[in-house]
Formats: sequence, structure tokens, C-alpha cells
Amino acid sequence: MDSSVYPVTTGSLPNAAAVIQFPHQIPNEVKPAMPNNQYHLETLAVHAGVEPDPLTGAVMTPIYQTSTYAQTDVAQHKGYEYSRTDNPTRTALQKALAALEGGSHALAFSSGMAAIDTLLRLIKPGEHVLCGNDVYGGTFRLFDKILRPNGVEFSYVNTGNLEEVQQAVQAHTRLIWLETPTNPMLRLTDIAAIAAIARQQGAWLGVDNTFASPILQRPLTLGADFVVHSTTKYIGGHSDVVGGTIILNDTAVYEQLKYLQNAIGAVPGPMDCFLTLRGIKTLAIRIKQHCASARQIAGWLEDHPAVAQVIYPGLESHPQHELAQRQMADFGGMISFILHGGEAAARQLARHTHLFTLAESLGGVESLIELPAPMTHASVADSPLAVDPGLVRISVGIENTQDLITDLAQALHHIQ
Ligand SMILES: Cc1ncc(COP(=O)(O)O)c(C=O)c1O
Repeated sequence: MDSSVYPVTTGSLPNAAAVIQFPHQIPNEVKPAMPNNQYHLETLAVHAGVEPDPLTGAVMTPIYQTSTYAQTDVAQHKGYEYSRTDNPTRTALQKALAALEGGSHALAFSSGMAAIDTLLRLIKPGEHVLCGNDVYGGTFRLFDKILRPNGVEFSYVNTGNLEEVQQAVQAHTRLIWLETPTNPMLRLTDIAAIAAIARQQGAWLGVDNTFASPILQRPLTLGADFVVHSTTKYIGGHSDVVGGTIILNDTAVYEQLKYLQNAIGAVPGPMDCFLTLRGIKTLAIRIKQHCASARQIAGWLEDHPAVAQVIYPGLESHPQHELAQRQMADFGGMISFILHGGEAAARQLARHTHLFTLAESLGGVESLIELPAPMTHASVADSPLAVDPGLVRISVGIENTQDLITDLAQALHHIQ
């Protein structure tokens, strides 16, 4: 080994920082930062946040599997001191997420719920949150069972109805919170219109963009203050990692959230950040396939005699199809439907698919099927957000479309 290239130490160890060149002294020293606003989303997905590693030239972001960093002198470091506070693999992921959503800042978390919980710490007891009345069950559980008993006020409205929102906003409303499309009813909200109501009130608008992904819709560009993702879903895309993110533009609020991220500590590990970054590289191309197959499958289901109702924003029968065309680049990979045979038929269907795995979650390369009422949305049972027990939700993967239709056809055959 050439010791002029790789310093070898013998005997007593010198101060590590004296012999090791830190790769990330100035993250963009090697090349100027990528001008994110000049590239299309497909390009950003591959390149944003990622520079060849200055130490080795590694093209892919290294997994900095370390909890701590050597300091050159007391409290003198190279931008990284402890991995709860910052980690270079997480930095790269956060840059990529910010670029994709067109935001100035992103923070990564150990789960989507950790991201939402950290964001909600900005809301003080006595302040009011206006929340969409169709949201992920875990979000409702956090709001209703954890934050409400601590003094934060919540009310739930159909954010697709602007008048209802206008009437429900109160003087102490600090945050309007919504999903679009929602989980699991795939209802839409006009983000720009709600952003205008929030601004008028001096409240923030937070949008959980998990179902659309930034490839289909970028809420910050429509006036939202925060975008949140469960990166576990489309962004990670391979059902192999749990994570979350908050993306925003306001630097002062970002500083508060950065403080909370470190103080609370619900951060992702370096390996999780690496996996999420790797997933992001194919996000745009995966979303194209999810959407193409879902459009075809939704149309096919609508014509099937066993199916009573199909809910998919890309269908003309969807009550907000026009808004979907205006607000989204395509209609997504999620479909919900109800069978004539109700809950019993839905359970039979879920038992008989082969390619559609019966499992919670969504947004991965593989197709999944579930019944929200007893599964992902069990925590909204007996609440105003309760879901039809016969509702079936599918996450259309990137397998061959005809194979997926054949699988649904043979499973539906079992219930006729
Ligand atoms: C829309 C939405 N938001 C947030 C979450 C929570 O994310 P996580 O499971 O990564 O904590 C989920 C999980 O399914 C979700 O569907």
C-alpha cells in the first residue's frame, strides 16, 4: 500500500483528524452545486443531492455508518459532530428530497409518523389544527389519542369542500392538514385554494403528499407551507425501508424543525438513508408504470360485474376527475373499490390473489391488496373517519399489467 495515499499509523495513534482528510469539508467543493431548477424531475431523481465522494470518487453516496466524528480541536468539527444531529448520507437524502419537491429545505425522519409528530410540535396547546376527514389511520391516532389529550385542538372536515373549510377555520387555527389523494378514499383537495384560505387566516398548510409523490404533484409550488411524505411508500419504492420527511421553504421554520429533529431524535440511520436515496433514483420511471397500469386496471374493474364502485382519480366517474387533471401530472397507482358482495366478498378476494400480496403499506414495486377498515385504518373505527368495512384498496406495482389483471380476474372468479 502506498502510504502517501493511504496514511498508515503505527505505534501510538496520532489525533485521527491530523492524518485523515475529511471528505465533506465543503460538500460541493468538487463541483459547483447542481442547479436544481434547471432540470426535469426525472433528472433530479437520479442526481439531486448526490456528488461523487470527494475522498474516493465513489459515484454512489457512501453509507456513513458512524455515530460520531473526530474533532480537530475542542468543539471544532467539519460540519458533523454526532449522527443524531447530522450524518452525510442523511444530508444527501435531504438534498434530494428538497430538490424533488422544489423546496429549500428537507429533514429526514425514521418514519412518516415521526415526521408528522415532529412537525406537530410546532403547534402549542390551545392552538387549533383543521384536519381533512379522510387521512391515514395512524395520523388520526397521533392527533386524537396523543396530541389532543395534551391540549392541541383538532377538528375534521372535508377539505375537498372549500366552504366547509372556510367555515371551520377559527381565529386560533395554526395549521390546516390534509392528504390529496386521501388514504384510503382517494378524495382530492384543491391545494392552491386551501393555501389561500390558510394564508388569509395566518395558518400554515401542511400536505401529506405520500399518495401522489413529487412526480405527480408538488404542493409547495401550489402554496403549501409543508410537504410531508411517508418515504416508506413511493419514494423508497421497494418495501425495504421505513422513513419520513418534511420539506419546506421558510428558513426560520426550518431552523425550528431542525432543532426539534435533533432534540427529539427520531432520525433515520445511514443505511436507511442510502436505501431511500437508491429508491429515489428510479422514482420517476416507477411512477410512470404505476400510473399506466393503474389506469388500465381501474377501467377494467369498473366494467367487472362483481364490482359495485371503483374509486380512482383517473376515471371520469371520479367526482373530482377535473381537479385531478388540473392538479396532478397523472393519477397515481392507488385504487379503492367496493364489491357487490360487500365485506365478505372483499375478504374472499384478498385471500385469493397471488400477485397482489395481502399486506399493509403501498407504493412498492410489488402489488399489494388490503381491506383498510380492519387493517391500515383500524385506528379510525367508531370515529367520524371510519371506513366502509367492504372497501378494498390496491397498490398497483410495476409488474406486467396483463398479469395483474389476470390475477384479479381469477381471484374475483372465486367470489362469483
Ligand atoms: C398517507 C400516509 N401518511 C403517513 C403514513 C405514515 O408513514 P410511516 O408508516 O412511514 O410512519 C402513512 C402510512 O401508511 C400513510 O399512508
